[in-house]
Amino acid sequence: MLALYRRHRPRSFDDVVGQEHIVRTLRNAIELGKVHHAYLFVGSRGTGKTSMAKLLACALNCEGGPSADFAPEDPACLAIANGRSLDVVEMDAASNNSVDDIRELRENVTLAPMGGGRRVYILDEAHMLSQSAWNAFLKTLEEPPAHVVFVLATTEAHKVPATIVDRCHRFDFHRPSVEQIAAVLSKVAAEEEIDAPDAALAMIARAATGSFRDALGTLEQLVTYGGNQVDIGDVQAVLGVADTDLILEAADALAAGDSRAALLTVERLSGSGRDATQFMRDFAEHLRRIYVVQTLGEPPDAFALSTEHAERLSAQAQRLASAEILRAIDLLGEALSAVKDGSEPRLRLELALLKATQPPTELSLQALMYRIEGLERRLAGGVAPASEPRVEPDSAPAPAAAPSLPPVPVEASAPVAEETELSLERLQSLWPAVVDAVRSENAMVGALFGEARAAALEAGRLIVDFPADREFLKKKAEASSDLLARAVRGLTGASPKLEYRLNGETVGPPTLSEEELLRRLESEFGAVDSDAAALPAREANQMGDDQ
Ligand SMILES: Nc1ncnc2c1ncn2[C@@H]1O[C@H](COP(=O)(O)OP(=O)(O)OP(=O)(O)O)[C@@H](O)[C@H]1O
Ligand SMILES: [Mg+2]
Repeated sequence: MLALYRRHRPRSFDDVVGQEHIVRTLRNAIELGKVHHAYLFVGSRGTGKTSMAKLLACALNCEGGPSADFAPEDPACLAIANGRSLDVVEMDAASNNSVDDIRELRENVTLAPMGGGRRVYILDEAHMLSQSAWNAFLKTLEEPPAHVVFVLATTEAHKVPATIVDRCHRFDFHRPSVEQIAAVLSKVAAEEEIDAPDAALAMIARAATGSFRDALGTLEQLVTYGGNQVDIGDVQAVLGVADTDLILEAADALAAGDSRAALLTVERLSGSGRDATQFMRDFAEHLRRIYVVQTLGEPPDAFALSTEHAERLSAQAQRLASAEILRAIDLLGEALSAVKDGSEPRLRLELALLKATQPPTELSLQALMYRIEGLERRLAGGVAPASEPRVEPDSAPAPAAAPSLPPVPVEASAPVAEETELSLERLQSLWPAVVDAVRSENAMVGALFGEARAAALEAGRLIVDFPADREFLKKKAEASSDLLARAVRGLTGASPKLEYRLNGETVGPPTLSEEELLRRLESEFGAVDSDAAALPAREANQMGDDQ
């Protein structure tokens, strides 16, 4: 049996979805008797070049033609549609690209049309012709016998010699939109009595990346896979696209700044055997759609989503700042190109999600937009911003509808507002980024705080805990408290009062060996004070005992 896409090739110009600019021009040329003798159809795979060439051939060879409104059942048209017409020659230049092939063609074109119409030569993959074949073809293409029409079809116009392009009327086929492909799918599904929900067809259309043929190929595969009843699960299985729920969960984790939830999503993804790279693409597409919803205010029909999916998308659009979305899409883009260079997809996905769920520490434009947006949201909430550092607006446009920001003094801190905004959970999930920020200013102090943790947030005070047997570190940390304060303010906009304490539990041997610690102290703090020098040794001895 013929493949689905061949059984459902457009049988008249009215059947052609999209490509209005080409259909109208060809219709007029046919009606006005101005059909050119050589056409160059340019477009990506599966966009309808061969189908359009066949329709042109039908119009030129139908009974009582030429006519753009030929009857698809017309015997000549049926023969053309089935590839059995003697007057329509289809050549694939991928396999017939030599001078000899062109010589044979040159002889063939002299033959008069059998059906009284025109002999139409459809040369697919035309860019595959060799240079000498093009040279041999040039004259014939320029002045073919009156009854001949050439249609050269190619996905790579830049490989067709300019001399040839100049002698043809060129048509550029548009890449069909997801909606157009979905429209063809639902028409074909109806004709084939395939029962598939719109959301499933939309998913197939999206995965087809602009090729009608690929979409119809997938539909055919699905019928082979699960019969004429097609559901979303089948589509996900056959296409290997990420489970929509996992995508929605990852976006929820992003909105919550919850790295742990994000990593759990990756865990489940690899458990389901789905492809992490495809997940990154689908997640980026999902974030793009959230951005669209934020701009339009609601999911456009074009998304063809189920009600539940549309509601979750809108909810996420409320919760995610557009700067966060842009940053996450960027991080996914970086991860995808790293995968192209051979990086391990799962690892790259995890890294991208980890970074995306933690506010940026770098002072990039995006990071600043992210924080401005955080501030605006706080302003929109009516709470005066506490201590968002003054952000100098650069060339990038501030997000829309934002009240103009009052300059915020760096040192100011308004505990009440901060406590409502800043939660201990949030601070704890931010702690690695806080330590990173300190480390970027001072590696040693960063290492010190790497041993600590945000233990409590009470009445505007942030309690930082050091292990009970790290008295020495706590002391040093207190001496560098301003670094921590700056990092916390930079990442959260809050300026809680910092307090340090030793908590009950011990954590075992330090990450830095005694020598290393001393060397670092020396380089960091210059001459080490006496009791400080003594302490690590004692520590080391103490640890020796523990082991
Ligand atoms: N505009 C369209 N409207 C409806 N269906 C279309 C359209 N274009 C293509 N199709 C469907 O997609 C199938 C593939 O199209 P076609 O073979 O014409 O693409 P092509 O551009 O020639 O691809 P290739 O570059 O791979 O040769 C057709 O058989 C038809 O079922
Ligand atoms: Mg083709």
